[in-house]
Amino acid sequence: FHRFPLHMVHGIPLMEPIVQQWGPIEDFQARPDDLLIATYPKAGTTWMQEIVDLILVRGDVEKAHRAPTHIRMPFLEICPTPPMPSGVQQLVDVPSPRVIKTHLPFQLVPKSFWENRCKVIYVARNAKDNVVSYYFFDQMNKTQPEPGPWELYLRKFMEEKLAWGSWYDHVCRYWDERTNHNILYVFYEDMKEDPAREIRRVMDFLEVELPPEVLEKIVWQTSFQVMKENPMANYSSVPSTILDQDVSPFMRKGEVGNWKNYFTVAQSEVFDAHYQRRMEGSSLHFRTQI
Ligand code: A3P
Repeated sequence: FHRFPLHMVHGIPLMEPIVQQWGPIEDFQARPDDLLIATYPKAGTTWMQEIVDLILVRGDVEKAHRAPTHIRMPFLEICPTPPMPSGVQQLVDVPSPRVIKTHLPFQLVPKSFWENRCKVIYVARNAKDNVVSYYFFDQMNKTQPEPGPWELYLRKFMEEKLAWGSWYDHVCRYWDERTNHNILYVFYEDMKEDPAREIRRVMDFLEVELPPEVLEKIVWQTSFQVMKENPMANYSSVPSTILDQDVSPFMRKGEVGNWKNYFTVAQSEVFDAHYQRRMEGSSLHFRTQI
């Protein structure tokens, strides 16, 4: 495996194998009962996938852990296992109802999801923790471009040049579109603060009712410590030639405010000033600590 270069698709930098499969991705036929979990990379995708799966199997842990995350709930635009074709090929054979993961920005999501009024769960995480998590991920994920030094990586994030494009546009566009479509918008920080409350929101959205003891079980099963040890949720089944967990574990810290260990005071000030300007006028607000 090698680190794939990025190419532009409609102004968004995407990894080469995604670009090569762009036609089939764009033409992907969503089904009305598909559920899409959409995120900017490292916002808490895997966490939400685990929550959704456990809700759908009504807390039956054995059923939920029938296979690793990326097999149970495939990635729309990329298949994380060799030989890494586009994920759309494997999705055709998945029986309904499908749960599909994507990092595509709103405008690149295949139209059929919107035409079919599919349910979409969007998870957003504050920019500072998100970029730190992405920085470590790009070190351990041997298919993503080399992250280089932190200082430069942070600048690339602010310049909106990382894979899957601008964090700023990503979070804002889904936010603005949430009332036009069937989108549940969830914050990573809220999930950390009160997981039971946020899991209940997801249950309501999915129209699933569960007794309190099952909800409690799901809170426990989807806690950072339990997921970190769970081979069906921690990506340990993906070969280390692709995800090298010795470089940085997939389940790394799972905290709000971890950015404070990596941003210098100067970096934080520059970032905040740019952020203010970039997000001006948006009604979307994040917490960088809880
Ligand atoms: P960190 O790198 O900050 O630890 P994604 O699934 O979108 O790739 O996001 C991965 C990030 O979510 C990682 O963040 C990971 O540790 C965190 N994460 C995964 N499961 C979690 C959980 N149950 N609770 C809190 N954070 C979790």
